[in-house]
Amino acid sequence: MLDFIRDPSIYNLVRGPFVWLAFLVFIGASVYKVRRLYLMAKNEKVVLPAIKLPAARRSILHWIVPFGSRNWRMRWPITVTTFVFHVGLVFTPIFLLSHNVLWYESWGIHWWSLPESVADVMTVLVMICCVVFFLRRVFAPEVRFVTSADDLLILAISFFPFLTGFLAYHELLLPYKTMVIIHMLFGQIMLIAIPFTRLAHMFYFFMTRAFMGSQTASWGGKDW
Ligand code: HEM
Ligand code: HEM
Repeated sequence: MLDFIRDPSIYNLVRGPFVWLAFLVFIGASVYKVRRLYLMAKNEKVVLPAIKLPAARRSILHWIVPFGSRNWRMRWPITVTTFVFHVGLVFTPIFLLSHNVLWYESWGIHWWSLPESVADVMTVLVMICCVVFFLRRVFAPEVRFVTSADDLLILAISFFPFLTGFLAYHELLLPYKTMVIIHMLFGQIMLIAIPFTRLAHMFYFFMTRAFMGSQTASWGGKDW
């Protein structure tokens, strides 16, 4: 932020005030959306009392463990793709050395970083998974039937921070600084989009599974 006040260049704008804005919107809007869904559930009167913690926990656990649910076991290629994709998507940016350097420079905090070669492989895997999801959405008739523009949009929002981060790191295609600026913008678009698009499933997943798991358990069944 101070760098931007001293030298108001595009780089310092995107590296300073825009980062603040992206994180504030991401955290603020996410808290608001989760709270709103919780209050809606509370108003319905029958939703919250239906939640049974052990059943909710079991359901979430079965769905976040690879092959933990029947649905995951029935479609192993897409299960592998989904898990590789999410592990890379969540852990790469958090444990990326380049990102950790930025946290250290700005806040003096640091934590463990992935070896750069591992981060690079994870980045490439995330991009490959995005391409697989895209091809599946375009070519598999049963998936195409339920695909809307939103689904392609969230795929693009997930893909571009990885592509541009990779191109910047390897100094490919455009001068390094230009590519890093583009990368930071795509990263910020992703953060801001999470609470406002279907990417909010990052939070809703746990809430819907808790409800579904409890419902099926009260009928004597299980939802995995
Ligand atoms: C808030 C804004 C962000 C900033 C300021 C930022 C900044 C950076 C910087 C400076 C680099 C380093 C390029 C180099 O090595 O010199 C980088 C790389 C990278 N970033 Fe970000 N980033 C942001 C958001 C994100 C997000 C949201 C993701 C993905 C979810 C992401 C994924 C990556 C990846 C995958 C790489 C390259 C890794 C590799 O190929 O080794 N970044 N980022
Ligand atoms: C951390 C908690 C998260 C959980 C538990 C989760 C869970 C899931 C699940 C269960 C699916 C459906 C997979 C299928 O239909 O086979 C999915 C799809 C997807 N997730 Fe997540 N997710 C999380 C975070 C994220 C984040 C942070 C992003 C991106 C910013 C993301 C992007 C996507 C995308 C793009 C798809 C759709 C792939 C397609 O086209 O079918 N997820 N997620």
